[in-house]
Amino acid sequence: MGDVRLGREINTEEAGKVVDSMIDSMLHNPDALISMSRLKSYDEYTFFHSVNTAILALGLGRHLSMNRDSLYLMGLGVFLHDVGKMKIPLEILNKPARLTTEEYEIIKQHALRGAELLTATKGLREAAIRPALEHHERINGTGYPFGRKQEELSLFGMIGAVTDIYDAITTDRVYHKAMQPHEALQYLYQVAQRGHIQAELVSRFVRCIGVYPVGSCVRLNTNELGVVERLRHERPLEPTILMVRDAQEAPIAPPRVLDLAAQTRKPIRSIAGVLLPLPHGIDPNAILDEAIRSRPKSWVA
Ligand SMILES: [Fe+2]
Ligand SMILES: [Fe+2]
Repeated sequence: MGDVRLGREINTEEAGKVVDSMIDSMLHNPDALISMSRLKSYDEYTFFHSVNTAILALGLGRHLSMNRDSLYLMGLGVFLHDVGKMKIPLEILNKPARLTTEEYEIIKQHALRGAELLTATKGLREAAIRPALEHHERINGTGYPFGRKQEELSLFGMIGAVTDIYDAITTDRVYHKAMQPHEALQYLYQVAQRGHIQAELVSRFVRCIGVYPVGSCVRLNTNELGVVERLRHERPLEPTILMVRDAQEAPIAPPRVLDLAAQTRKPIRSIAGVLLPLPHGIDPNAILDEAIRSRPKSWVA
Protein backbone atom coordinates (compact mmCIF):
# COMPACT_ATOMS: atom_id res chain seq x y z
CA MET A 1 0.00 0.00 0.00
CA GLY A 2 2.81 2.36 0.92
CA ASP A 3 4.63 1.47 -2.28
CA VAL A 4 1.62 2.37 -4.34
CA ARG A 5 1.24 5.71 -2.60
CA LEU A 6 4.88 6.43 -3.41
CA GLY A 7 4.30 5.51 -7.03
CA ARG A 8 6.27 2.28 -6.88
CA GLU A 9 5.10 -0.94 -8.42
CA ILE A 10 2.86 -3.35 -6.49
CA ASN A 11 4.86 -6.19 -5.02
CA THR A 12 2.65 -9.09 -6.05
CA GLU A 13 5.21 -11.58 -4.85
CA GLU A 14 4.92 -10.33 -1.25
CA ALA A 15 1.14 -10.07 -1.50
CA GLY A 16 1.09 -13.60 -2.90
CA LYS A 17 3.07 -14.93 0.06
CA VAL A 18 0.58 -13.38 2.48
CA VAL A 19 -2.33 -14.93 0.63
CA ASP A 20 -0.58 -18.30 0.46
CA SER A 21 -0.11 -18.37 4.21
CA MET A 22 -3.71 -17.28 4.72
CA ILE A 23 -4.82 -20.25 2.60
CA ASP A 24 -2.61 -22.62 4.58
CA SER A 25 -4.17 -21.38 7.82
CA MET A 26 -7.60 -21.58 6.31
CA LEU A 27 -7.21 -25.18 5.19
CA HIS A 28 -5.63 -26.12 8.49
CA ASN A 29 -8.03 -24.40 10.83
CA PRO A 30 -10.68 -22.38 8.99
CA ASP A 31 -12.62 -21.11 11.95
CA ALA A 32 -9.57 -19.80 13.77
CA LEU A 33 -8.57 -17.74 10.75
CA ILE A 34 -12.04 -16.25 10.56
CA SER A 35 -11.55 -15.13 14.16
CA MET A 36 -8.46 -13.27 13.00
CA SER A 37 -10.59 -11.29 10.61
CA ARG A 38 -11.88 -9.42 13.66
CA LEU A 39 -8.58 -7.60 14.10
CA LYS A 40 -9.41 -3.94 13.67
CA SER A 41 -7.27 -0.90 13.56
CA TYR A 42 -8.65 2.52 13.11
CA ASP A 43 -5.37 4.08 12.00
CA GLU A 44 -4.46 1.74 9.23
CA TYR A 45 -7.99 1.11 8.19
CA THR A 46 -7.40 0.17 4.56
CA PHE A 47 -4.68 -2.33 5.39
CA PHE A 48 -6.66 -4.15 8.08
CA HIS A 49 -9.79 -3.95 5.99
CA SER A 50 -7.92 -5.58 3.08
CA VAL A 51 -6.65 -8.43 5.23
CA ASN A 52 -10.03 -9.00 6.88
CA THR A 53 -11.94 -8.91 3.63
CA ALA A 54 -9.53 -11.41 2.06
CA ILE A 55 -9.84 -13.77 5.02
CA LEU A 56 -13.63 -13.65 4.88
CA ALA A 57 -13.57 -14.19 1.12
CA LEU A 58 -11.25 -17.19 1.52
CA GLY A 59 -13.60 -18.61 4.14
CA LEU A 60 -16.50 -18.26 1.74
CA GLY A 61 -14.46 -19.64 -1.16
CA ARG A 62 -13.52 -22.68 0.84
CA HIS A 63 -17.15 -23.10 1.81
CA LEU A 64 -17.97 -23.09 -1.92
CA SER A 65 -15.36 -25.84 -2.42
CA MET A 66 -13.01 -23.73 -4.55
CA ASN A 67 -9.71 -25.36 -5.40
CA ARG A 68 -6.43 -23.94 -4.21
CA ASP A 69 -5.65 -22.17 -7.46
CA SER A 70 -8.98 -20.33 -7.39
CA LEU A 71 -8.58 -19.55 -3.70
CA TYR A 72 -5.20 -18.04 -4.46
CA LEU A 73 -6.41 -15.86 -7.34
CA MET A 74 -9.47 -14.73 -5.45
CA GLY A 75 -7.59 -14.17 -2.19
CA LEU A 76 -4.98 -12.07 -3.94
CA GLY A 77 -7.62 -10.11 -5.82
CA VAL A 78 -9.70 -9.41 -2.71
CA PHE A 79 -6.59 -8.57 -0.68
CA LEU A 80 -5.77 -5.92 -3.30
CA HIS A 81 -9.34 -4.76 -3.95
CA ASP A 82 -8.90 -1.30 -2.44
CA VAL A 83 -5.36 -0.68 -3.64
CA GLY A 84 -6.72 2.15 -5.80
CA LYS A 85 -7.48 4.05 -2.57
CA MET A 86 -3.77 4.74 -2.32
CA LYS A 87 -4.22 7.07 -5.30
CA ILE A 88 -6.93 9.07 -3.53
CA PRO A 89 -5.80 12.12 -1.51
CA LEU A 90 -5.59 11.24 2.20
CA GLU A 91 -7.57 14.30 3.26
CA ILE A 92 -10.55 12.98 1.31
CA LEU A 93 -9.99 9.33 2.24
CA ASN A 94 -9.82 10.07 5.97
CA LYS A 95 -12.17 13.04 6.08
CA PRO A 96 -13.89 12.95 9.46
CA ALA A 97 -17.08 14.47 8.10
CA ARG A 98 -19.65 13.88 5.41
CA LEU A 99 -18.20 13.91 1.91
CA THR A 100 -19.38 16.42 -0.65
CA THR A 101 -20.71 15.05 -3.95
CA GLU A 102 -17.42 15.96 -5.65
CA GLU A 103 -15.36 14.23 -2.96
CA TYR A 104 -17.52 11.12 -3.18
CA GLU A 105 -16.97 11.05 -6.94
CA ILE A 106 -13.21 11.16 -6.31
CA ILE A 107 -13.42 8.30 -3.77
CA LYS A 108 -15.41 6.27 -6.29
CA GLN A 109 -12.48 6.43 -8.69
CA HIS A 110 -10.56 4.00 -6.48
CA ALA A 111 -12.19 0.99 -8.13
CA LEU A 112 -11.03 1.89 -11.62
CA ARG A 113 -7.66 3.26 -10.40
CA GLY A 114 -7.08 -0.03 -8.60
CA ALA A 115 -7.93 -2.10 -11.67
CA GLU A 116 -5.58 0.06 -13.75
CA LEU A 117 -2.75 -0.33 -11.26
CA LEU A 118 -3.23 -4.08 -11.17
CA THR A 119 -3.49 -4.35 -14.95
CA ALA A 120 -0.13 -2.59 -15.18
CA THR A 121 1.36 -5.04 -12.67
CA LYS A 122 3.36 -7.81 -14.30
CA GLY A 123 2.35 -11.40 -13.72
CA LEU A 124 -1.09 -10.77 -12.29
CA ARG A 125 -3.84 -12.86 -13.90
CA GLU A 126 -7.00 -11.16 -15.05
CA ALA A 127 -9.21 -13.00 -12.54
CA ALA A 128 -7.27 -11.39 -9.68
CA ILE A 129 -8.05 -7.92 -11.02
CA ARG A 130 -11.81 -8.45 -11.01
CA PRO A 131 -12.40 -7.82 -7.27
CA ALA A 132 -10.78 -4.36 -7.52
CA LEU A 133 -12.85 -3.53 -10.57
CA GLU A 134 -16.12 -5.07 -9.45
CA HIS A 135 -16.43 -4.85 -5.67
CA HIS A 136 -18.61 -1.73 -5.88
CA GLU A 137 -20.70 -3.00 -8.77
CA ARG A 138 -24.18 -4.16 -7.74
CA ILE A 139 -25.90 -7.09 -9.41
CA ASN A 140 -28.91 -4.97 -10.47
CA GLY A 141 -26.59 -2.57 -12.28
CA THR A 142 -26.71 0.28 -9.75
CA GLY A 143 -23.05 0.12 -8.74
CA TYR A 144 -19.87 1.69 -10.08
CA PRO A 145 -17.62 2.15 -12.05
CA PHE A 146 -19.60 0.71 -14.99
CA GLY A 147 -23.02 -0.21 -13.63
CA ARG A 148 -22.48 -3.80 -14.72
CA LYS A 149 -25.14 -6.39 -13.94
CA GLN A 150 -24.82 -9.86 -12.46
CA GLU A 151 -24.28 -11.64 -15.80
CA GLU A 152 -21.29 -9.40 -16.51
CA LEU A 153 -19.73 -9.80 -13.07
CA SER A 154 -17.31 -12.47 -11.91
CA LEU A 155 -17.83 -14.71 -8.90
CA PHE A 156 -14.64 -13.24 -7.37
CA GLY A 157 -16.05 -9.74 -7.79
CA MET A 158 -19.40 -10.66 -6.25
CA ILE A 159 -17.74 -12.40 -3.30
CA GLY A 160 -15.52 -9.34 -2.86
CA ALA A 161 -18.65 -7.17 -2.71
CA VAL A 162 -20.28 -9.26 0.04
CA THR A 163 -17.21 -9.54 2.27
CA ASP A 164 -16.24 -5.90 1.65
CA ILE A 165 -19.62 -4.71 2.92
CA TYR A 166 -19.54 -7.06 5.91
CA ASP A 167 -16.12 -5.96 7.08
CA ALA A 168 -16.85 -2.26 6.50
CA ILE A 169 -20.08 -2.24 8.51
CA THR A 170 -18.64 -4.24 11.41
CA THR A 171 -15.82 -1.70 11.88
CA ASP A 172 -16.08 1.63 13.72
CA ARG A 173 -15.41 4.57 11.44
CA VAL A 174 -15.73 8.28 11.99
CA TYR A 175 -19.04 8.37 10.18
CA HIS A 176 -20.62 5.19 11.55
CA LYS A 177 -20.56 2.94 14.58
CA ALA A 178 -19.74 -0.70 13.96
CA MET A 179 -22.78 -2.97 13.64
CA GLN A 180 -22.86 -6.12 15.72
CA PRO A 181 -22.26 -9.31 13.72
CA HIS A 182 -25.87 -10.50 13.86
CA GLU A 183 -27.11 -7.04 12.83
CA ALA A 184 -24.57 -7.03 10.01
CA LEU A 185 -25.87 -10.35 8.72
CA GLN A 186 -29.44 -9.03 8.77
CA TYR A 187 -28.22 -5.96 6.93
CA LEU A 188 -26.58 -8.12 4.26
CA TYR A 189 -29.91 -9.88 3.70
CA GLN A 190 -31.57 -6.47 3.25
CA VAL A 191 -28.91 -5.43 0.76
CA ALA A 192 -29.53 -8.67 -1.12
CA GLN A 193 -33.27 -8.00 -1.09
CA ARG A 194 -32.65 -4.63 -2.68
CA GLY A 195 -30.97 -6.50 -5.50
CA HIS A 196 -27.46 -5.24 -4.78
CA ILE A 197 -25.68 -8.46 -3.91
CA GLN A 198 -26.46 -12.11 -4.55
CA ALA A 199 -28.83 -13.59 -1.97
CA GLU A 200 -27.37 -17.07 -2.51
CA LEU A 201 -23.88 -15.79 -1.68
CA VAL A 202 -25.21 -14.08 1.43
CA SER A 203 -26.81 -17.26 2.75
CA ARG A 204 -23.61 -19.19 2.01
CA PHE A 205 -21.67 -16.50 3.81
CA VAL A 206 -23.95 -16.72 6.82
CA ARG A 207 -23.48 -20.48 6.92
CA CYS A 208 -19.75 -19.92 6.70
CA ILE A 209 -19.41 -17.41 9.53
CA GLY A 210 -21.99 -19.07 11.75
CA VAL A 211 -25.26 -18.37 13.51
CA TYR A 212 -23.38 -16.50 16.20
CA PRO A 213 -20.44 -15.00 14.32
CA VAL A 214 -17.18 -14.41 16.13
CA GLY A 215 -17.56 -11.20 18.14
CA SER A 216 -21.25 -11.68 18.95
CA CYS A 217 -22.18 -10.75 22.49
CA VAL A 218 -24.42 -13.39 24.05
CA ARG A 219 -26.41 -14.01 27.21
CA LEU A 220 -26.25 -17.54 28.58
CA ASN A 221 -29.04 -19.48 30.25
CA THR A 222 -27.21 -18.78 33.53
CA ASN A 223 -27.49 -15.02 32.86
CA GLU A 224 -23.74 -14.71 32.42
CA LEU A 225 -22.52 -12.71 29.43
CA GLY A 226 -19.93 -13.76 26.91
CA VAL A 227 -18.33 -12.90 23.59
CA VAL A 228 -18.16 -15.56 20.85
CA GLU A 229 -14.53 -16.33 20.22
CA ARG A 230 -14.52 -19.31 17.95
CA LEU A 231 -17.01 -21.33 15.98
CA ARG A 232 -17.44 -24.90 15.05
CA HIS A 233 -19.39 -25.71 11.94
CA GLU A 234 -20.63 -29.09 13.08
CA ARG A 235 -22.15 -27.49 16.17
CA PRO A 236 -23.18 -23.98 15.17
CA LEU A 237 -25.16 -23.31 18.35
CA GLU A 238 -22.25 -24.15 20.63
CA PRO A 239 -19.29 -21.91 19.88
CA THR A 240 -16.40 -21.26 22.23
CA ILE A 241 -17.06 -18.12 24.20
CA LEU A 242 -15.13 -15.79 26.46
CA MET A 243 -17.18 -15.25 29.59
CA VAL A 244 -16.85 -11.59 30.51
CA ARG A 245 -19.65 -10.98 33.07
CA ASP A 246 -21.00 -13.18 35.83
CA ALA A 247 -24.72 -13.61 36.54
CA GLN A 248 -24.74 -10.35 38.49
CA GLU A 249 -22.95 -8.71 35.54
CA ALA A 250 -19.76 -8.21 37.52
CA PRO A 251 -16.71 -8.33 35.22
CA ILE A 252 -14.75 -11.57 34.90
CA ALA A 253 -11.12 -10.61 34.28
CA PRO A 254 -9.36 -12.05 32.49
CA PRO A 255 -12.30 -13.55 30.59
CA ARG A 256 -12.90 -17.26 31.14
CA VAL A 257 -12.81 -19.50 28.06
CA LEU A 258 -15.75 -21.85 27.74
CA ASP A 259 -16.29 -24.30 24.90
CA LEU A 260 -20.07 -24.77 24.94
CA ALA A 261 -19.71 -28.02 22.96
CA ALA A 262 -17.34 -29.61 25.49
CA GLN A 263 -18.75 -28.94 28.93
CA THR A 264 -18.14 -31.31 31.78
CA ARG A 265 -19.13 -29.13 34.70
CA LYS A 266 -22.68 -28.32 35.75
CA PRO A 267 -24.64 -26.22 35.17
CA ILE A 268 -24.49 -26.98 31.45
CA ARG A 269 -24.58 -23.62 29.76
CA SER A 270 -26.18 -22.62 26.48
CA ILE A 271 -26.81 -19.42 24.56
CA ALA A 272 -30.10 -17.79 25.53
CA GLY A 273 -29.87 -14.76 23.27
CA VAL A 274 -27.79 -12.15 21.50
CA LEU A 275 -27.45 -8.70 23.01
CA LEU A 276 -25.97 -5.34 22.27
CA PRO A 277 -22.61 -5.10 24.02
CA LEU A 278 -22.44 -1.34 24.52
CA PRO A 279 -25.18 -0.96 27.18
CA HIS A 280 -23.33 -3.64 29.17
CA GLY A 281 -20.00 -1.87 28.82
CA ILE A 282 -18.56 -4.66 26.68
CA ASP A 283 -16.27 -4.04 23.68
CA PRO A 284 -16.11 -7.35 21.78
CA ASN A 285 -13.35 -6.21 19.41
CA ALA A 286 -11.08 -5.17 22.27
CA ILE A 287 -11.76 -8.45 24.11
CA LEU A 288 -11.05 -10.54 21.01
CA ASP A 289 -7.94 -8.58 20.07
CA GLU A 290 -6.58 -9.16 23.55
CA ALA A 291 -7.49 -12.86 23.48
CA ILE A 292 -5.98 -13.41 20.03
CA ARG A 293 -2.76 -11.66 21.04
CA SER A 294 -2.35 -13.69 24.21
CA ARG A 295 -2.95 -17.03 22.46
CA PRO A 296 -0.07 -19.33 21.71
CA LYS A 297 0.98 -19.08 18.05
CA SER A 298 0.06 -22.71 17.33
CA TRP A 299 -3.57 -21.80 17.72
CA VAL A 300 -3.67 -20.03 14.38
CA ALA A 301 -0.77 -21.68 12.62
FE1 LIG B 1 -13.68 -0.20 -2.20
FE1 LIG C 1 -13.14 -2.28 0.56
